[in-house]
Amino acid sequence: MYQFPNGFLWGAAASATQTEGAAELDGKAQNIWDYWFEIEPERFYEGVGPKNTSDFYKYFKEDIERMKAVHLNSFRTSISWSRLLPDGIKVNKKAVDFYNQLIDELIQHDIEPIINLFHFDMPLHMQEKGGWESLEVVEAFNFYAKTAFELFGDKVKKWTTFNEPIVPVEMGYLNNYHYPCVIDMKRAVVVAYHSMLASAKAVKTYRDLSQDGQIGIILNLTPSYPRSQSKGDIEAAKIADLFFNRSFLDPSVLGEYPTDLVELLRTHDLMPEVNQIDLELIKENTVDFLGVNYYQPRRVKEKEANTTKTDSILPESFFDPYIWPDRRMNPYRGWEIYEKGLYDIATNIKDNYGNIPWYVAENGMGVEGEERFKDEKDMIQDDYRIEFYEEHLKWLHKAIEEGSNCFGYHVWTFIDNWSWLNAYKNRYGLYRIDLNTKQRYMKKSGLWFGDVAMHNGF
Ligand code: BG6
Repeated sequence: MYQFPNGFLWGAAASATQTEGAAELDGKAQNIWDYWFEIEPERFYEGVGPKNTSDFYKYFKEDIERMKAVHLNSFRTSISWSRLLPDGIKVNKKAVDFYNQLIDELIQHDIEPIINLFHFDMPLHMQEKGGWESLEVVEAFNFYAKTAFELFGDKVKKWTTFNEPIVPVEMGYLNNYHYPCVIDMKRAVVVAYHSMLASAKAVKTYRDLSQDGQIGIILNLTPSYPRSQSKGDIEAAKIADLFFNRSFLDPSVLGEYPTDLVELLRTHDLMPEVNQIDLELIKENTVDFLGVNYYQPRRVKEKEANTTKTDSILPESFFDPYIWPDRRMNPYRGWEIYEKGLYDIATNIKDNYGNIPWYVAENGMGVEGEERFKDEKDMIQDDYRIEFYEEHLKWLHKAIEEGSNCFGYHVWTFIDNWSWLNAYKNRYGLYRIDLNTKQRYMKKSGLWFGDVAMHNGF
């Protein structure tokens, strides 16, 4: 029996843009996803865009009943900035009504809301001002955060500033995967620094309001494993860790950027403009807790050809990906499944980050074509997903036994939802959605997870 600590949070995560729908309803302004889909629909799987979601905006009450049916005691979603403040300044009353009703309904069902402020969905007019490259947008975010705390802070006791802030950096400014589809390391570093600054400012604003809750940040931590113990491989893994994990983990939890990262950026003329006042602000406004999204590790090896030219530098200029021959893949998403990674993350947090309270904010397995696993009662027999959760939870349990300060486990996701580029290709939910009727059907993993949540273990 794997028994978890009393009061452990069992839940699921989602985000506004991926679930709400109503992209053009009730005064919501466009965000970069609405706009990008309008101009380049072919970039999205099967041409399905953010208007076409599970319509949580409409069905949230019934969906909260469904959460109850699988015994969730917590749920994380985000507020849509462009719904709450369509012009960045004036509060949209319809949005306030929606989020109030949603939060109230969750609380009435004994489901703790964890509310996140930014999940990849920059309002379009803010992007036009430069997005995270602009300090004006950092200030606008702070205003949005303050507005949200003032509106909902009497009820919401766990806030997070960002979900995976490295993703807009990587996908939007290094890889041409997300809008604005830029490839420029220098600009990417500015985006990362300003997002970090925005997060610290929001933490300060929250504390200044003296509300009696906690504020954290959600990071996707990808443990970086070197191919071998050779000096070159270890250095490669260290650099990957600096870029993709420690660039947000260290300032968020310890209040300081790793000196090795700063030196590396300086050497390659990539330093953003920083001032002492902002660095102090980051130092003084570290988070109360961490959310960790974990899907896959990163395996690297020493770079084969040295290509560190300043004009075209990218993180990959410092290491090569390593394909571990023993790796086990989720072939649909193309991500390695490595359960022990969760234990390694927990140990790292315990040993190097003051054992700060943290929870697994996302963990899950996206599978294509799940319909083929339907039984005669229309239930998807997703035993592979149950096995995935079970194996991760065993490692998490071991970490907790060894003293890790982990307070919860959220799956990604509750109901199959729209994903940024893959739309509905890979399904992650405890519930399946029929896209034609928008009907939801519990999967076998929903039943299983409900049992685990009810017994606080398995
Ligand atoms: C996380 C994000 O990175 O992974 C989610 O926070 C996302 O928004 C999830 O949907 C799964 O990734 P994907 O690309 O398969 O949807």
